[in-house]
Amino acid sequence: MSDRPSTAGYAEEADKLSETYESLTFEKVHRRGLPFVPAAPSAVLDIGAGTGRDAAALARLGHRVTAAEPTAEMRAHGKRLHADVAIEWVDDILPDLRQVFALHRRFDLVLMTAVWMHLDARERRIAMANVADLMAPTAALLMTLRHGPVPEGRRMFEVSAEETRDLGRRHCLASVHEGTGTDALRRDGVHWTYLAFRRTGSPASR
Ligand SMILES: C[S@@+](CC[C@H](N)C(=O)[O-])C[C@H]1O[C@@H](n2cnc3c(N)ncnc32)[C@H](O)[C@@H]1O
Repeated sequence: MSDRPSTAGYAEEADKLSETYESLTFEKVHRRGLPFVPAAPSAVLDIGAGTGRDAAALARLGHRVTAAEPTAEMRAHGKRLHADVAIEWVDDILPDLRQVFALHRRFDLVLMTAVWMHLDARERRIAMANVADLMAPTAALLMTLRHGPVPEGRRMFEVSAEETRDLGRRHCLASVHEGTGTDALRRDGVHWTYLAFRRTGSPASR
């Protein structure tokens, strides 16, 4: 499994998946994270943005949204489906996020929705450090972790709330919410962990 790239399966299935992902709403997926979404217009980074469902919803709320998505086919659907809203699409990939770092920006809210389980243990360690570096002081990070059977052709790892929380803590990200939930798409055996973090401390203290 691990000889596949983290994006395995997405290009081939982008047409079907774009409909699936867009059948959900940002408000439903991120119900528990809504209290952490800034009220004032802010800089938002959606990593593994897929078709931009969440990026578009946040842009409609007035935020300046950067959507990092490595699969060209997913970005193409996102640009087409959400052409009416201003989203800055970036071709970039965890764990390094080189293109995002090249923007020389810090973000007030970062989303990693249904992407973390695509990274192996080494990638997760590097990714958490980089994501924390991209966050402004007091910024929030919202994450969902998928558990259960791995779809044919994809690369996924079993990731735990404990490990994710510990990784966050190492990089001054305090866990401020943790919960579990069933799959909104009712896929057999699939369930989710929802995590929210708040950045504490300054880069100098890391
Ligand atoms: C399950 S989809 C979720 C898409 C979107 N966040 C949503 O909730 O609808 C996972 C997305 O992560 C992207 N992805 C896979 N590996 C990635 C990586 N290493 N860095 C960033 N994104 C990645 C895939 O291309 C895919 O679009």
